[in-house]
Amino acid sequence: MSQGKREVPVKKNETYNVTFEDLTHDGAAVAKIEGYTLFVPKALPGESGKVKVVKANKGYGFGRLLELTEESSQRVDPPCPIFDRCGGCQVQHLSYEGQLEHKQKHVADNLKRIGKLEDIAVHPTLGMEDPWRYRNKAQVPVGEANGELIAGFYAKRSHEIIDMPNCIIQHESNDLVVQEVKDIAKKYGIRSYDEKKHKGTLRHIVSRHGRTTDELMVVLVTRGKELPNKKNIVQEIRERLPNVKSIIQNINPKRTNVIFGDQTTTLWGEDVIYDYIGDIKFAISPRSFYQVNPTQTKVLYEKALEYARLTGKETVIDAYCGIGTISLFLAQKAKQVLGVEIVPEAIDDAKNNAKLNGIENVDFAVGEAENVIPWWQSQGVQPDVMVVDPPRKGCDESLLQTMIQLKPERIVYVSCNPSTLARDLRILEDGGFRTKQVQPVDMFPQTNHVEAVAELVLDV
Ligand SMILES: C[S@@+](CC[C@H](N)C(=O)[O-])C[C@H]1O[C@@H](n2cnc3c(N)ncnc32)[C@H](O)[C@@H]1O
Repeated sequence: MSQGKREVPVKKNETYNVTFEDLTHDGAAVAKIEGYTLFVPKALPGESGKVKVVKANKGYGFGRLLELTEESSQRVDPPCPIFDRCGGCQVQHLSYEGQLEHKQKHVADNLKRIGKLEDIAVHPTLGMEDPWRYRNKAQVPVGEANGELIAGFYAKRSHEIIDMPNCIIQHESNDLVVQEVKDIAKKYGIRSYDEKKHKGTLRHIVSRHGRTTDELMVVLVTRGKELPNKKNIVQEIRERLPNVKSIIQNINPKRTNVIFGDQTTTLWGEDVIYDYIGDIKFAISPRSFYQVNPTQTKVLYEKALEYARLTGKETVIDAYCGIGTISLFLAQKAKQVLGVEIVPEAIDDAKNNAKLNGIENVDFAVGEAENVIPWWQSQGVQPDVMVVDPPRKGCDESLLQTMIQLKPERIVYVSCNPSTLARDLRILEDGGFRTKQVQPVDMFPQTNHVEAVAELVLDV
């Protein structure tokens, strides 16, 4: 029988005894039944148990864990009572040490399988001393249950909002904001937004916290301009949350899953809050991109700086620079840094942040890195070091070709997706660069997300 016509050896709703071999990037364990792959959430490699098949596609299926007959020594009780329903975290049932090992292995496996990079040193993941309460931003949907206003999370694969008293990967301040604002909104009879009927007022409560300054920003995302009892609500937020420095209303009148609308008004206080990473001060506005784990951001950027090996004489290009966080970090040790980013508001923030810190050896441009960098090249810019920190889809192929042509002495590749990292490193290797080492950094404990920094040198 040809492979294409091979019969599926499992049936939906049947149960099987299996042993789990591996963990996928999204935190499901892998079991093989006569060579057929079954993905089973909440199981761990090395464990055995009984599973029920819930979906049997041609090439692979999904199972539900019914019972464990053998437990991994790395299994722990997930401390969050809503871990099973929420979906925000995927690996709370794996010890933190196990999570760090899994992330290292995941990066190394991708480099081998996709990048054909066999002998690259992939270091043990740099983790957190305390891998809880790390997030500096909460974005919580508001709904109604039994006629009461609630705020929490969307149940897995649905749009049903479930009320949440706290979230243990959020900083306590953000939890407090959500609870107090929920309470205040109830007190003043604010209706939640109903996405089916496109009626009601309050859509999301967003809270941002500056870890080093302890400043708080509260954003009320509403369907229209109207917010009944606005003055009283603002007054109570100020009384109940003394660290609040900024109270913002964002208006989002659209039928959309996107949280923010285009119109933002400061109801009270500052337009921004501040935070420091290392010695650099950043202004954070309601919508600006800012890494959510400030403790590990410092670890990540320090690693990028180390791999850039700057002496003070270098011209550096920071592609995909966002609000210029890495650029400003590098500028302290380089002759000049040029940052490029596609979102105009992010570049405004980057320029303001440079001013805020009195950093003058940086310049920022709006545009696609793959177009702006060749233009810089045509103007005679020759980078000694290039840093890239692309979104999940990785670098644009033409940007990789430009890097190969420009031949900087070194490249620092910061990646949030090991598979596109592996793909791009292969192209850069074929173009004359050598990957010296890769450092995974755990930016998102308890979740399946993996961040890694790679150091490449020109192989002369
Ligand atoms: C992973 S973020 C990195 C941000 C920044 N380096 C940081 O650490 O905060 C990727 C950034 O690339 C930007 N981006 C996406 N496509 C781009 C492109 N073609 N050219 C330039 N920037 C792009 C996104 O807007 C986003 O800010």
